[in-house]
Amino acid sequence: MKTHLKFDHSNKTKLRQIRIFCSATMVAGLLSSQTLQAQTMPADSGKSNVIVSSFKPVPLQDPKIPGYTYPVAADTITAWTKSPKGQIEIQKHAWGIWTALTLNSGETYQGQPLRVFETWETPDDIMTASSQALMNKPRVPNVLTPFHQLNHAGLLKTTQGKETVLGFVKYDPIAAAHIRANNLFSIAALNKMLAANETSIPAFPAPSLSLKPVFQTLKSKNLVQARYFQLSVWPGPPKTPVPFPSSDWKTCVWIDTQDTGTEKLSGGVDNKCAADGSSRTAANTYGLKNFIHFKVDAANAELLNKSTENFKGIAAGDYSVLVAMHVGSREITEWTWQSFWWTPAPDLPPAPSSAAIAKLRPAALQGAPRHYAHCAAYQTLSPPQPETGGKNVGESVYCYNPYLEAGFGPSDLPDSIPGKYKGQTVANNVGVQTNCMSCHAAANFNPKNLTTAPNYSGDRYLGLNDPRFKGTLQVDFLWSIPGNAK
Ligand code: HEC
Repeated sequence: MKTHLKFDHSNKTKLRQIRIFCSATMVAGLLSSQTLQAQTMPADSGKSNVIVSSFKPVPLQDPKIPGYTYPVAADTITAWTKSPKGQIEIQKHAWGIWTALTLNSGETYQGQPLRVFETWETPDDIMTASSQALMNKPRVPNVLTPFHQLNHAGLLKTTQGKETVLGFVKYDPIAAAHIRANNLFSIAALNKMLAANETSIPAFPAPSLSLKPVFQTLKSKNLVQARYFQLSVWPGPPKTPVPFPSSDWKTCVWIDTQDTGTEKLSGGVDNKCAADGSSRTAANTYGLKNFIHFKVDAANAELLNKSTENFKGIAAGDYSVLVAMHVGSREITEWTWQSFWWTPAPDLPPAPSSAAIAKLRPAALQGAPRHYAHCAAYQTLSPPQPETGGKNVGESVYCYNPYLEAGFGPSDLPDSIPGKYKGQTVANNVGVQTNCMSCHAAANFNPKNLTTAPNYSGDRYLGLNDPRFKGTLQVDFLWSIPGNAK
């Protein structure tokens, strides 16, 4: 890794850009890097040249929702997975976590308030600073990079066609501390565990959280009439399960980048999606206030312009809107999985969410975060199977994020096996037949590239002691560990 640090000693109070570029050793050649913002202390403070972090990671807050607590005991969650009433508790719990994640953290960056999740650390943040240095470490909250999942170790090809979504993986302070303490982003450390015949990395402590927020950047050069951006929105799954990337949705809304004030909690969609904006109407146009969003800063824009073709032309000051966010919590051994995505009429979101799920939104969930739908996968099958020694029987449980998984086809999900859905035998090998927990249960570090190792799949049962893990190191469900280890 090559590090360029530039300090301006002539003006110690001025904000300076510091860039750390990781050279081209990234997974599948993707550019991964970090842009840091630093402030040097005034010389007369007695701490000259000490870099001050502009904000610190804030733990998950209590949103004070009646009946919601975090974390919930594993036994309680396991009981939830076994009854229809329990499913309601699961949906409510997911809404509580979402509300807590999107609360104002009290921290700011360049004068902009940050939501709790924005303050959390990315793998690059963790790799570039020890915990002791954290408070003195300059960071920016939202450094957009292309995703590993879409091109992970060369396995998942980009199925989104013209891939334009960007994002990052993030960890709460508890998970970040666990990664640091066990050096989990070190290939050498992982290999040492394998050599010592460990079958898994040390388990993350119970309340850990991990995230994958995904943004659509509204490139100014792609705006119609210099203000409207066409955003594909999820129309619900296709009748027959097929790969269904956003380019096939044929449903969109228009984001008015000049309207920062109007809240609209239910509105129309555009089914023509004319590139010239001729199908845009007031009903299918939404102001920025309906989206969690931020402005791309100069250094991140420069970085993205150097990455793949799709991200060329992003400029400083372009808005980025949150279209999707995956969330995992280690309240249970198999983690809880929930995913959130922007939807035009949040009272009536299509599958894999539902109007019934939307009805459970707490009153505390207000503003832009209320414009998102969710699904949850706290189990892979219904009735649920045990962690080990179970069978691939029962009703399939589907939960996927339209912006991330819907485009996947059978070749992206090589470890799929058939299952049952509504009494029929189904292949469970395309994105709309996936289940977060099934694919994450397979997560392993596989330095010998054993072809027998568990791999990406659609919804299925996978026992945590499946013999196919032999020769690999299980990574406690987090694909981002082998994906980022160097
Ligand atoms: C086909 C496999 C697959 C499916 C299905 C899948 N994921 Fe992931 N997920 C990945 C991979 C691979 C990564 C690592 C991405 C990276 O490092 O950029 C990841 C990363 C994540 C992360 C970041 C931390 C980590 O490493 O786990 C979260 C949280 C997450 N996914 C949640 C979800 C949720 C919620 C769903 C279901 C809605 C889901 N995932 C469905 C493969 C999958």
